[in-house]
Amino acid sequence: MLSYQHSYHAGGPADVHKHVALTLLLTHLTAKAKPASVIDLYAGNGVYALTAAAAQKTGEYHDGIAKLWAVQNPPAALGAYLRVVKHLNPGELSLYPGSPDIARQMLRPDDRLILNELHPTSFTALKGWVGHDDRIAVHKRDGLEALLALVPPQVRRGLALIDPSFEMKTDYTEIPVRLATAVEKWREGIFMIWYPVLADARHKPLLTGIAAIASPSFCAELTLPKPSSEKGLRGTGIVVVNPPWKFDAEMLEAGDAVAKILGGKHFTRWLREPT
Ligand SMILES: C[S@@+](CC[C@H](N)C(=O)[O-])C[C@H]1O[C@@H](n2cnc3c(N)ncnc32)[C@H](O)[C@@H]1O
Repeated sequence: MLSYQHSYHAGGPADVHKHVALTLLLTHLTAKAKPASVIDLYAGNGVYALTAAAAQKTGEYHDGIAKLWAVQNPPAALGAYLRVVKHLNPGELSLYPGSPDIARQMLRPDDRLILNELHPTSFTALKGWVGHDDRIAVHKRDGLEALLALVPPQVRRGLALIDPSFEMKTDYTEIPVRLATAVEKWREGIFMIWYPVLADARHKPLLTGIAAIASPSFCAELTLPKPSSEKGLRGTGIVVVNPPWKFDAEMLEAGDAVAKILGGKHFTRWLREPT
């Protein structure tokens, strides 16, 4: 029962907030000379055409990346994110980088990118987008099953991105359970989880469950100025387990900058503070 297709939502406000956080984490990972791994468990297509029928149908990117793109002197806090988008679009804005493309652009020759995607159409698109790149491996498995199978990676400094479509309501309770085991298996790993904020606040058990894991976790949420066409999305959130030092302050600054451009309210908090 896989009906979600990210091509309808690429470049929308949720992508912007999530990908700003991702670029901040990748900046940390690539700041040290040691190699790093990125595991993207719900990878999607890799890259998206904003001119395609799906993106045009919802027009969500108009409320997201198109607004940032139009800013003349964007704040430095959004620099890494905008550099990635600009690299893909040397002229007009017509393509949007999915998380695999963001990681691929920021990773170095000795880094590793492990991608996973279950939807047959997205998997085919992803494989085609990867082409031949020795740094990248592609899997087609259930994301939560892959989480436990793929951690810890051989190169142990790294990040796992958990960005499901939440078509399965059980994800809200199942993710913290699997995550607890993954954190146990990969103590030095950074884990970033995206979640939707809907009218019925069904993400609450997800946050409570993650807060119960005995590792620091930091949460950033952006409430949208108007519900998105994405099934009543009221806001968008990320949780980072084992965030790098200073990520909390960087995310606060970058998220506030996003809110100033897109509208809406941004706030951050520790679910569990570092000891
Ligand atoms: C929100 S999108 C991912 C977007 C991508 N991470 C990005 O930021 O560009 C979620 C993806 O998960 C895929 N998916 C849905 N259920 C899955 C499952 N059980 N296991 C793996 N992938 C799944 C969907 O096909 C979709 O491409």
